[in-house]
Amino acid sequence: MKIAFFDSGMGGLSVLHHAMKVLPHEQFVFYADEDNVPYGTKTKEQVQDYVDKAFRFLLKQDVKAIVVACNTATSVAVAKMRSLYDVPIIGMEPAAKKALDMDGTKRVLVTATPITVKGRKMELLIEKVDKDHLVDRLALPELVTFAERQEFNSPAVTDYLKEQLAPFDFANYSALVLGCTHFNYFKDTMRQLLPENVQFVDGNEGTVRELIRRLRERNQLEEQTPAVEYFYSGRRVTDDSELKRLEKYLSRLEQMYRI
Ligand code: DGL
Repeated sequence: MKIAFFDSGMGGLSVLHHAMKVLPHEQFVFYADEDNVPYGTKTKEQVQDYVDKAFRFLLKQDVKAIVVACNTATSVAVAKMRSLYDVPIIGMEPAAKKALDMDGTKRVLVTATPITVKGRKMELLIEKVDKDHLVDRLALPELVTFAERQEFNSPAVTDYLKEQLAPFDFANYSALVLGCTHFNYFKDTMRQLLPENVQFVDGNEGTVRELIRRLRERNQLEEQTPAVEYFYSGRRVTDDSELKRLEKYLSRLEQMYRI
C-alpha cells in the first residue's frame, strides 16, 4: 500500500522529500491541489471543502496513511477528517515547541499563512507551549505565490522578505519557524537576511517520525520498489514538462536540506 502526501501545492514536497530519504522502500502518492492553491488566504470553509475533496480522491488510491503536509489544511480540517476516516492521518503544525526547546530564553518567530497564524489551533499551541511569552507570529502569504512560480531568490522575493522581517530585532531571536511547508524553498534567501544566531526550524522531521510511529504500530511499514505518483487536484501528472517542474522543486529542496 502507499503513503499519501497532501498539500495545497508544492510545499508538501518538502515533507515528501524528507520521507523519501528516511523511508527509501515505500511507495508514495503526492497530491498538490494546484487548482486551488493558495489556501492560506481563502476562507476556512473553502479550505475545508478542498480538503474534503482531496481526501475522497486519496482514499481510493490504496493508501495506508495520509500525511497532511500543509499547516493550513491541518489547522482547519484535520480534526474533521479524523472523525470521518479510520486511516492514520498525520497533520502538521508550526514547530514552535521544538524551537522553544532549543533555547528557551530568546524569542522565536513563527512564520506561516494568514489562516494558520490567526487560527484557533495556533492559539491553543501558544497557550500550551509559550509560558514565557517568547513567540511572535508573522504571516508571509506572498511566499506561497512566489514558490508556486518557482521564484525563490529574485529581487522581488528579497524585497518582500526584507520588508516583512524589518520590524523584528533578530539579535533577540534564536529561531525562525517555517510554519508553512512552502517556506522551505526560501531558506538560502532568508539566511542572507538573518543573523547567524537565528536557526530555521521546520516540522518535517517530526511529521515523518510520527508517520513511521503510526505505521509501525499497525505493522504497516513495507519494503517495496520505491515509487512516487504525482497528482494535481486529482489528475495524474504524466506530462514531461510537468514532471520536470516537479524535479526542479525536488532539486531545490536538496539544496535547502542542510541550511
Ligand atoms: N503549504 C501550506 C502550509 O503549510 C499552505 C500554503 C497555501 O496554500 O497558502 O500551510
